[in-house]
Amino acid sequence: MPSRLANQWVLITGASSGIGEAAARQFGAAGCHLLLGARRLDKLNAAAAAAKKSGAASAHVHELDVASTPSVEAFVKWVRTLTPRVDVLLNNAGGAHGADTVAEGKDADWVAMVESNLLGLMRVTRAVLPLMLPHQSGTILNIGSIAGRQPYEGGSLYCGVKAAEFAITKSLRLELCGTGLRVGTVDPGLAQTEFAVTRYKGDEARALKTYEGMTPLTGDDIAEALVWAASRPAHVCIDEILLKATDQAAVYKVHRRTGK
Ligand SMILES: NC(=O)c1ccc[n+]([C@@H]2O[C@H](COP(=O)([O-])OP(=O)(O)OC[C@H]3O[C@@H](n4cnc5c(N)ncnc54)[C@H](OP(=O)(O)O)[C@@H]3O)[C@@H](O)[C@H]2O)c1
Repeated sequence: MPSRLANQWVLITGASSGIGEAAARQFGAAGCHLLLGARRLDKLNAAAAAAKKSGAASAHVHELDVASTPSVEAFVKWVRTLTPRVDVLLNNAGGAHGADTVAEGKDADWVAMVESNLLGLMRVTRAVLPLMLPHQSGTILNIGSIAGRQPYEGGSLYCGVKAAEFAITKSLRLELCGTGLRVGTVDPGLAQTEFAVTRYKGDEARALKTYEGMTPLTGDDIAEALVWAASRPAHVCIDEILLKATDQAAVYKVHRRTGK
């Protein structure tokens, strides 16, 4: 059966690693044209090559820093040179910086989290909507987190920006009702990507401890949910997905096998 997504134009922010890279491969396998953005061009080119190998109709890359309005505008100007329409927008770029308590928090970490997870999503959505609204169909999927639903110690600002992402997704869903566009949030729990390495400033050993003794989600598990949500019939909107590893029942309830 031909894929409903074949030849659709899919824009993915943060496509250089983790969930975004897996989404590029899986939307590629569904026969999509891909518009991939992130700051690390070497990794972005590798993601595009993997997506082409998996069957993408085309895969295009351009540097994108969602923390900068001029960068977002330049990116979308470049998108317009390739296509007059975007069918699927995946607002995925982001992550956590640090795990300090409020008392010990660092300004630079707070600013980075607000700029990428929160303002980045706003900037990219505002810039891409003119490429979606005229076509009266399309899908915006924002990546939230279990952190946006259940705060935890040392996560204050990250939990805050992901709770804001949840609220923004709901506002956008209301604002776009009647336009034919659908909007949803996909909120993962523990997933093994570069996420923890970034949070712990490159400390690989500490990052690995996050997943010790348990089986986490992978980027591909989340990409599968994204492809599923984007490929429902046009009259069906998947408003929210919360997906967690079987070993993780809640932020603080993670089954870890010891004695390995
Ligand atoms: N892994 C988890 O456990 C988990 C759970 C829930 C939610 N999430 C969310 O899932 C999303 C993807 O994270 P991931 O797990 O796949 O981690 P990841 O492997 O670290 O990927 C993060 C991606 O975001 C991009 N990015 C970060 N800041 C950016 C910026 N200012 N401009 C453009 N791109 C930027 C990175 O690209 P460059 O560095 O090349 O720019 C990278 O491609 C994030 O929003 C994260 O908060 C992750």
